[in-house]
Amino acid sequence: MKLLFSATIIWLFILSNSCKHLPEWLPSDLPVNDSTLSGIPCSADTIYFNRDIAPLLATNCAMSGCHDAITHAEGVNLSVYSKIMSTGDVKPGSPTASKLYTVTLKSDPNDRMPPSPSPALTSAQIKMLNTWIAQGARNNYCYDCDSTAFKFSLNILPIIQNNCTGCHNSGNTSGGVMLTNYSEITAALVDNRLQNTIAWTGVKNMPPSKKLPSCKIDNINKWIANGALNN
Ligand code: HEC
Repeated sequence: MKLLFSATIIWLFILSNSCKHLPEWLPSDLPVNDSTLSGIPCSADTIYFNRDIAPLLATNCAMSGCHDAITHAEGVNLSVYSKIMSTGDVKPGSPTASKLYTVTLKSDPNDRMPPSPSPALTSAQIKMLNTWIAQGARNNYCYDCDSTAFKFSLNILPIIQNNCTGCHNSGNTSGGVMLTNYSEITAALVDNRLQNTIAWTGVKNMPPSKKLPSCKIDNINKWIANGALNN
């Protein structure tokens, strides 16, 4: 009996510690449940791996045929943190020595990443990558999402740009859907196509690798419920 009791205690100890460990992002190892992360507030001047970098790389780089775990073109696998660091040749503290960063700057659209016909990353996205590496390229986590914020340009467009646009642009029209601007995004609302995909209700779950945090899904749905304005 005593033995069983101590075995249970040890087991509970192991279990509680393994839960404290925040694992790498993608595809399913970061808890989908927002409340797990809600105790980790975001600081305004920090770029976070889970919030900013992982979705950026998932939608622009780690897709099938490019730098996902299966294809890993040219040996580069940008699907999980450890591989991003090693195969993306990331030098913490030094963006300009990090291939992951310098390839986004190339002027030749065939050498640049993502390559033509995909558009280059936006200057805001490139700056984000630079800052994350300059800040130590950490596997850092935070969680904040203001459920009352659903202005198109300030809140909705950045969610779509960071999680969807890399697979849905003129060079990569997955499923015939483009999501680069207001009119394309509102076109995808017809028949609840976009709404159903982000809800992960069945056939086509978007983004394919991981459901958006529920607060961001709420933001999108509130924007739609309030008339999907171009505000
Ligand atoms: C890694 C690439 C990738 C990412 C990231 C991605 N998509 Fe997709 N999406 C696809 C592919 C591929 C298809 C076509 C799937 C098919 O037809 O089976 C698709 C199809 C769709 C469709 C059409 C579904 C239908 O009813 O035919 C919508 C709408 C959509 N995506 C929205 C989104 C939204 C919104 C996001 C971001 C929250 C997103 N996607 C992120 C690859 C992606």
